[in-house]
Amino acid sequence: MTEQELKQLLNSMTRKEKVGQTLQVMARFLMENTDDALMGSAAGFGWEKEDFDLAGAAIGTHGAEKLIALQKLQMERQPHGIPMLFMKDIIHGMRTVFPAPIGQGASFDPEMTEKCAQTAAKEAAVSGLHVTFSPMADLVRDARWGRVMESTGEDPYLNSRMTAAMVKGFQGKDLKEPGRVAACVKHFAGYGAAEAGRDYNTAEISEHTFRNAYLPAYEAGIQAGAAMVMTSFNTVDGIPATGNRHLMRDILRDEMGFEGVLISDFAAILETINHGYAEDKADAAKKALEAGVDIDMCTNVYSGNLCRLIEEGKIDERLLDEAVWRILKLKNDLGLFENPFKDADPEKEKEVILCPEHRALAREAAAKSFVLLKNDGVLPVSAEQKIAFIGPYVNRKEMLSSWAVAGEAKDSVTIQEAAQEVFAPERMAYCQGSPLLENGVRLVGFRTEEKMEYSAEECRQMEEEACNAAKEADVVILALGEHYLQSGEAASRAMIEIPEIQMELFRKVSAVNPNVVVVLFSGRPLDLREVSRKARAVLEVWMPGTEGGHAIADVLTGKVNPSGKLSMSFPYCVGQVPVYYNALNTGRPYKEGDEDRFLSRYLDIPNKPLYPFGYGLSYTEFSISELVLDRETLRPGETVTASVTVKNIGKCEGTEVVQLYIRDVAASVARPVKELKDFRKVTLKPGEVETVVFEISEEMLRFYKEGQGRVSEAGEFRVFVGNSSETENQRSFVLIKD
Ligand code: BGC
Repeated sequence: MTEQELKQLLNSMTRKEKVGQTLQVMARFLMENTDDALMGSAAGFGWEKEDFDLAGAAIGTHGAEKLIALQKLQMERQPHGIPMLFMKDIIHGMRTVFPAPIGQGASFDPEMTEKCAQTAAKEAAVSGLHVTFSPMADLVRDARWGRVMESTGEDPYLNSRMTAAMVKGFQGKDLKEPGRVAACVKHFAGYGAAEAGRDYNTAEISEHTFRNAYLPAYEAGIQAGAAMVMTSFNTVDGIPATGNRHLMRDILRDEMGFEGVLISDFAAILETINHGYAEDKADAAKKALEAGVDIDMCTNVYSGNLCRLIEEGKIDERLLDEAVWRILKLKNDLGLFENPFKDADPEKEKEVILCPEHRALAREAAAKSFVLLKNDGVLPVSAEQKIAFIGPYVNRKEMLSSWAVAGEAKDSVTIQEAAQEVFAPERMAYCQGSPLLENGVRLVGFRTEEKMEYSAEECRQMEEEACNAAKEADVVILALGEHYLQSGEAASRAMIEIPEIQMELFRKVSAVNPNVVVVLFSGRPLDLREVSRKARAVLEVWMPGTEGGHAIADVLTGKVNPSGKLSMSFPYCVGQVPVYYNALNTGRPYKEGDEDRFLSRYLDIPNKPLYPFGYGLSYTEFSISELVLDRETLRPGETVTASVTVKNIGKCEGTEVVQLYIRDVAASVARPVKELKDFRKVTLKPGEVETVVFEISEEMLRFYKEGQGRVSEAGEFRVFVGNSSETENQRSFVLIKD
């Protein structure tokens, strides 16, 4: 449609029809007989028949046949035959599930992430979807928050690169292209700062930190062209984000230039009443529309109130028109007026979904996301060894994550299945060893058909079998971790530990065979003090996705050399949380070994996390030369080049992530001790050498300063280049501005 035709359409719509466009409902309700749904499954939402007929968007269902049928049905119900937008959370893959975002962050490989998003978009598009609620650009610092799994970690720069990569991967250059879906950057803004790591909790962030740490990744997604943004559940400066005019109009729209569709998070407009910000639904509707929220996700707050509010003169109809215009424009950008089914195609669905090419990418992406936290020489294993594979994750298909809502556990390859492809059966043993969880652990979520209760006798037998297998083996691969429902939305944990029943197994097995390699499944950093002390190797595999088993076997055998680096610091223990590398220095910084009494430190634990951001080992070793800067001063418009020589001094080919950090030594506001500014992945054969050169420009030194926007300030800057955030390989230059 031309813009003019689109405008004509908008002008010809009744007020009720326009309000309908701002409503999103669950697709499953629309597919039922309307009366049955309103009386049954949808009762309680307060919708009326007309709402269902006029709704502009649907959530939660995929499948070409179903969505083609639903689109036809809804277009007949709509007076102007306007097609619906079909949306779903395609977070880290659709049916082919890639590693969880926290793992993708650890790959430090935005190109790979872009490919994963592109592949997910392809599967989503043939299944009839138009929009995915991804990427989640929320910065995270508190490992207790379950949604750290959906984030690419604690660093604004890495998150920005990853968010932009996902947007590009999902959307390509033109949403009309086959295989593309619209991306939705979420949750705007600051949701990752939920106090005490408790989901939906208040976020208390200073303007300075909000602007410098939290906002950049959302902005990167918007600059990459994201068609949609989703509001967050938290308050920002005391005002719920979903009704926050300043946040949405001044920052998102005016400053960041976002022109796309703003959708509320699930029921978030309604929840402004619980926040104590809106008096009732009508007030909530008014505040959200005035803030510029275009779509109400799954409540009747807009549909039940906007018409009346306009009639009573309490809301300017132009605000409604503005919202509907953006929604219609997105539909038009997706080409839905010409082709309301877009790429939905049952035949292509069969061809594309889980095809070998997609599985191969999932395998590669998973292996790249793994982080080798410890290895005292026991890895990689060799085919001549007798290996006991023990643990609840040895033959567990459910390793996709709670946000792999279109993934199916039955498609995934377990460690055992993958190991059986490469190891001779006579030297291998496989056993579960223990349940994944103690009886009665609280979980919330959708798919738990697995056995959850075990008798004491069953546990004893499992343990006995495991210990016998461990005794016979040269090396034990112990596959442990969180249940997938222990990470994700509404899955905050105060104790970020491996479930105790598995720790008991770990202790029993380690007692009979000290050669234990822990393969750790988790959606978040865990307290690994005991494991890292006793195990000979620890491989963090996150929630690795459909090809997890193959990827793990690839890494354990050395077919793939691990190269992941932590995207989030692993705290020493939960009492240290939040702990992140890019903190401010304080006036009394503590340095290891300093015994002065009045320093910023704990009496009982170290200040440093157990494993810092950017850290990860390889089967080979790299030496990084002293850093060289080509000049000592920098003026705007110029660049300083920072170079190091990286050499593979080990025995096998490997990949190192060379990281550039900068510290602004003195400024008008305190600046972090280090900030990641760039990184490069280099793959080297044994003995091979490569020079890695980073260019530093004045723009990279900017930070947000109240009242001035992003500025740099003259003075000394320290540059660090190394293979983790703890590198001390540094040189200084001076920024001159006159
Ligand atoms: C989550 C969002 C998600 C939405 C739709 C909400 O509960 O916070 O991240 O996109 O549901 O499923």
